[in-house]
Amino acid sequence: MHTILITGGAGFIGSHLTRLFVTKYPGYKIVNLDALTYAGNLENLKDIENNANYSFVKGDITDTALLKELFDMHQFTAVLHCAAESHVDRSITDPLAFVTTNVVGTATLLLAAKQHWHGNYEGKIFYHISTDEVYGSLGAEGFFTEETAYDPRSPYSASKASSDHLVRAFYHTYHMPVKISNCSNNYGPYHFPEKLIPLCIHNIINNKPLPIYGKGENIRDWLYVEDHVGAIDVIFHKGRIGETYNIGGHNEWTNIALVKELCRQMDTKLGRPAGDSEKLITYVKDRAGHDLRYAIDASKLKDELGWLPSLQFEEGISKTIDWYLTNSDWLNAVTSGNYQHYYEGQYVKR
Ligand code: NAD
Ligand code: TYD
Repeated sequence: MHTILITGGAGFIGSHLTRLFVTKYPGYKIVNLDALTYAGNLENLKDIENNANYSFVKGDITDTALLKELFDMHQFTAVLHCAAESHVDRSITDPLAFVTTNVVGTATLLLAAKQHWHGNYEGKIFYHISTDEVYGSLGAEGFFTEETAYDPRSPYSASKASSDHLVRAFYHTYHMPVKISNCSNNYGPYHFPEKLIPLCIHNIINNKPLPIYGKGENIRDWLYVEDHVGAIDVIFHKGRIGETYNIGGHNEWTNIALVKELCRQMDTKLGRPAGDSEKLITYVKDRAGHDLRYAIDASKLKDELGWLPSLQFEEGISKTIDWYLTNSDWLNAVTSGNYQHYYEGQYVKR
């Protein structure tokens, strides 16, 4: 039995993680703490908001007093730490926001757990959700393993690397029972349309240009979000304390090949002539410090805990497109207001 504090549960991955734990473990009590930034949206959790084992608190992970109050009130036995600023492009324009939430926020949360648990770590888990971007950029060959030296290159990845180091420091220094996972790029429902896949789906629907940075030759390793949270579930329950596990799908795509696959599937689904949406592809100025390639070696997770991804990419992308086409209200709501302001700053004025 656990009483779990999930941070960032109203975001993309956090909402899938919250839904999985609330529905799969009715005996667990789940408290979702989320600041509801532009990326947080309670609509993502509409289907479980009235479940008896779930509650939501709007608040910030940098708020020491609030964290103390929540730990005292709920006596958490575990933390699943998902809250973060997560978009590389935003980290280039506003790095301090990333340091504040990802570094200071993680340290504040670690301290709150340490103070509350007070050395009584029996049955406790502090699980930190992180990214493969901490390892830097690969060339054409090789994979990131858990032993790969950290080499973050964007303010986002540097802030996540820093938070990973803090979590490990609390394990070594205070013996806090931590677990860390570093996952490759996720995709799926409820993904905010500032990231490549949902942005392109949104723009294809609206016949708007598909902005490809540089030559579109950068490579990412894509994993369906439900496979990611399934892996977190396995690591949370069976992974070893103090360990790091890499999560990935062995599913590498250049950005241009990926966007062409999206166009192909969407032409069929929207009843457009083959090749129609590809005409929207527009090459734009490259991202500053753009990492060339990410690719995960997830063999530790497979060999030790038997985890494998369940979905093939073409199927996952098809399910994802169908979700966005069915949930146009969600997409319209998150792309109104501030989104337009962001979009113009990022793409129109580039
Ligand atoms: P997201 O941006 O969709 O969601 C982040 C959530 O955190 C939002 O609900 C937001 O409101 C909340 N939040 C932000 N600042 C907060 C603060 N100060 N206090 C409380 N809540 C705050 O992000 P995501 O894509 O769901 O990523 C979740 C986690 O997974 C992050 O730690 C990210 O680094 C990691 N990750 C993401 C990916 C990916 O492909 N998206 C891959 C690997 C790891
Ligand atoms: P993104 O979804 O932002 O994830 P990350 O940068 O964390 O990997 O970007 C995925 C890839 O797509 C990355 O190589 C940058 C590229 N990209 C574009 O070409 N155009 C875009 O408009 C965006 C948002 C990303």
